[in-house]
Amino acid sequence: MVQRQFPNPKELAQLMRFKAPTMNPTDRRLEHALTIADLRRIAHRRTPKAAFEYTEGAAEGEISLARARQAFQDIEFHPGILRNVADVDTSREALGGPSAFPFAIAPTGFTRLMQTEGEIAGAGAAGAAGIPFTLSTLGTTSIENVRAANPDGRLWFQLYVMRERERSYELVRRAAAAGFDTLHFTVDTPVAGARLRDKRNGFSIPPQLTPKTVLNAIPRPAWWINFLTTEPLTFASLSSTGGTVGELLDSAMDPTISFDDLEIIRGMWPGKLVVKGVQTLADAKILAGLGVDGIVLSNHGGRQLDRAPVPFELLPEVAREVGGDTEVLVDTGIMSGADIVAAVALGAKSTMVGRAYLYGLMAGGRRGVDKTIEILSNEIVRTMKLLEVRTLDELGPQHVTQLSRFTRVRPAVAAQAEAIAEAKPRTVRAPRTTAAAKPTTARAAKTAAATAAPAKTVAAKSATAKTAARTTASSAPGRTATKSTKPAVAKATAPDAAAPDAD
Ligand SMILES: Cc1cc2nc3c(=O)[nH]c(=O)nc-3n(C[C@H](O)[C@H](O)[C@H](O)COP(=O)(O)O)c2cc1C
Repeated sequence: MVQRQFPNPKELAQLMRFKAPTMNPTDRRLEHALTIADLRRIAHRRTPKAAFEYTEGAAEGEISLARARQAFQDIEFHPGILRNVADVDTSREALGGPSAFPFAIAPTGFTRLMQTEGEIAGAGAAGAAGIPFTLSTLGTTSIENVRAANPDGRLWFQLYVMRERERSYELVRRAAAAGFDTLHFTVDTPVAGARLRDKRNGFSIPPQLTPKTVLNAIPRPAWWINFLTTEPLTFASLSSTGGTVGELLDSAMDPTISFDDLEIIRGMWPGKLVVKGVQTLADAKILAGLGVDGIVLSNHGGRQLDRAPVPFELLPEVAREVGGDTEVLVDTGIMSGADIVAAVALGAKSTMVGRAYLYGLMAGGRRGVDKTIEILSNEIVRTMKLLEVRTLDELGPQHVTQLSRFTRVRPAVAAQAEAIAEAKPRTVRAPRTTAAAKPTTARAAKTAAATAAPAKTVAAKSATAKTAARTTASSAPGRTATKSTKPAVAKATAPDAAAPDAD
C-alpha cells in the first residue's frame, strides 16, 4: 500500500522552474528546433510554396536526392570504448586554410528568394562559426558585399563558366581581388536539370504575383513584407531574368565547356582550385592527374541528372584512390552532424551543406543559419564522443559500415571485368611526374584521350572483355559495401581513368 502525504510547499517550490518567456519571436521559434528536420518544418510554414519548393526540390523523379539521404541513414557506426573523450577537436585544415568543423556552406543560387537576408546571413554566420562560406555565380549578393559581411573569414567562390566567357572571367578576377581563397568550378551543369516542381508551380524569376501566389501569401506575411520592402531580388552577377531557374540556367550555361576551360581558369586563379560535381572514379582520377587541389563529389543535391550515383557511396573508393594527392569533399543529402562524421570517417576532407543551411535561413534569417551551424556542430561533437574519437584524424573506415540496400545486377560479369583489369599491366605512367613537367590541363586531357583509345582497342579484341569493361565501368562505384580488390594506383593517371577497366 502506497503511503500518501500532503505536498510539502518547500519541495513543491523547488520543482517549479518557470523560465522567462523568450521575447524575440525568431528566437522563440528557433529554440524548439533540435534538428535540421525541425528547421525544415519551420521553414515550410513561413515560406511561400514556390520558393520553398525551389529549395527543397530536385530533378525529375527526385530519386538521386532520396537515395543520397537514404545512404546516410544506411550506415552503421562502430564506436570504441574507454578513450577519455572529455575534449574533442573538430577543426581541420581544408584547402589550405582552417575550418572549425568539417563542413562549409555550399553555393546556392538565388538565395535571397528563400529569405531576404540571403548570402549576408550565410556569410556572416559562417564567419562567426569559423567555417567557409561559398558564394554562387547565381548569388543574389555581390562578391564585395559578401566579403563585407564576413571581413576576416574564409570565402569560396563557385564558378559557372557561362556562354559569355568574359562575364565569368570578370567574376574570377573580382573574387580573387576580394580575397576569396578557393574557386569551385561546377561541372555538372552543361544544361539545367528538369526541376519539375518549379514548372508545376509556375515559378519564375522574378517571382510573379498571381491569384494563386497571393492566396498562398496570406498565411506567410513576413516573407512578403521582406520581399516588398527590401532591395529588389535579382542575380548579383547575371543580367538575364524572366523564366524558370532552369530556363535561365539553360540560357546562361554553355554545354560546350571542356577541359580547356579548366585550364584557362587554372591560369587565372591564384588560390585553390576545386572541381565540383565529380560523379565517377574515372573523372576523379583524371582531375587528380591534372593536379587540381580538390574535388567535390556531388550530384548538385539531386538537382541535375536524376539517378546519378550517390556521392557518399562513391566516397570510400575515390578517397582511397586519389585522396593522397587531392582533397576530396562530398555533398548531397547531408542533414545531420552524424552524416558529416560518417563522411569524414570514409575519407572526406570536408563536406558541404546546401539545404540544411537554407532551411535555417528560411526559418529565421541570420539567427536561423546560426542555428543550423549550432545543430550540426553539436551533432558532430556528440557523435565523435560516442564513437570515442578525439580528433577528426582518428576517424577512419573502421568506424562506419555502409549497409547495402541494393546490389548491382550481374555482379559476376563485373567481377570478371575486374579480373581482366587486374591481369593487364598498366602501361601508361602518370602525366604529372615532376613539378617542372606538370602538364596543363588541356594537354593532359588530350593525352588521356589519345592513350585511352589503344586501351579501348585492346579491350575490343575480346567480346568478353568488351562486355565486361562496359559492365564494370557502369558499376565501378558500388552501391554495395563491397571492397575493391584492385591495388590503389600510386599516382592517378588520366589514361587509367579514361578507360578504367579496359587498360
Ligand atoms: C536551392 C539550391 C540552389 C543551388 N544553387 C547552386 C549553384 O548556384 N551552384 C552550384 O554549384 N550548386 C548549387 N546548388 C547545389 C549545392 O551547392 C550543393 O551541391 C547541394 O545543395 C548539396 O546537397 P544538399 O542540399 O542535400 O546539401 C544548389 C542547391 C540548392 C538546394
